[in-house]
Amino acid sequence: MPKVALVTGSNKGIGFAIVRSLCKQFNGDVFLSSRDAGRGTAAVESLNSEGLKPIFQQLDINDPESVRAARDFFNEKYGGLDVLINNAGIAFKNADTTPFGTQAEVTLKTNFFATRDMCNEFLPIIKPGGRVVNVSSVMSSIALNRCSPELQARFRSNDITEEELVGLMERFVQEAQAGAHSQGGWPDTAYGVSKTGLTVLSRIHARKLGHERPADQILLNACCPGWVRTDMAGPNATKSPDEGAITPVYLALLPAGAGEPQGQFVMDKKVHPW
Ligand SMILES: NC(=O)c1ccc[n+]([C@@H]2O[C@H](COP(=O)([O-])OP(=O)(O)OC[C@H]3O[C@@H](n4cnc5c(N)ncnc54)[C@H](OP(=O)(O)O)[C@@H]3O)[C@@H](O)[C@H]2O)c1
Repeated sequence: MPKVALVTGSNKGIGFAIVRSLCKQFNGDVFLSSRDAGRGTAAVESLNSEGLKPIFQQLDINDPESVRAARDFFNEKYGGLDVLINNAGIAFKNADTTPFGTQAEVTLKTNFFATRDMCNEFLPIIKPGGRVVNVSSVMSSIALNRCSPELQARFRSNDITEEELVGLMERFVQEAQAGAHSQGGWPDTAYGVSKTGLTVLSRIHARKLGHERPADQILLNACCPGWVRTDMAGPNATKSPDEGAITPVYLALLPAGAGEPQGQFVMDKKVHPW
């Protein structure tokens, strides 16, 4: 059975560049996924014109039916998944005037809660020796440092559970909607908090894999791709999408038998203290 890799939100931007790089380096089938079939197949055709052969999979991480259908497909066709890159994400523009509470709800829905749903459906089918990469952001670290000392202590602790983290993320949304997030110890960045949640979730899931499947040698990490010229970050960012793909692809292709990095936050291929 061939090996298989899946990249979420890969019809454009960093995800698209990750698929391009995996097509050149990964010894197996590479799936480009998009919530929209038209945008996804157009992206596949664009890589075909470069001589690359990714395969399209419809996947909207906000739609539990779509997530489960994709999981069942990979389970039935490949017996699981070797590489999962959770790249799909959203960000409101700085100039957007949508109320902060709405921005908090919408941003956390995709970047934290839906990515968590992806992990919870797909982690059980990640094969031994598999690699999971969560595309977080340096903003996760910046937002962490702007949280209250109490919140920082919980987000840095090694005993925070997924349930506690989910409760804290829900609390952020509720307090943001009530205009009370500053008093609650949260920073003024919904995107940053969503990515703090994703980096902490990655630490929790790596710890859990170590307890529950120690022999399977699965490595799971969060990373920042850098500041990348995409629709999200705009034309002034410093890296090209191909440069932004380097660290996620490095983590996806960590060699067989490697024991680290595991449960880390990685930037420019280096572990960054959390
Ligand atoms: N660009 C940067 O400087 C930067 C820095 C740090 C971290 N990041 C992170 O890197 C990742 C990729 O960002 P990017 O800059 O490439 O952004 P982008 O160009 O806006 O691309 C985002 C991708 O995610 C997809 N997506 C959004 N919601 C989705 C959903 N519910 N289901 C499936 N796909 C969904 C989008 O699909 P549609 O085309 O259908 O909208 C698009 O393919 C994000 O997680 C982002 O937070 C980016």
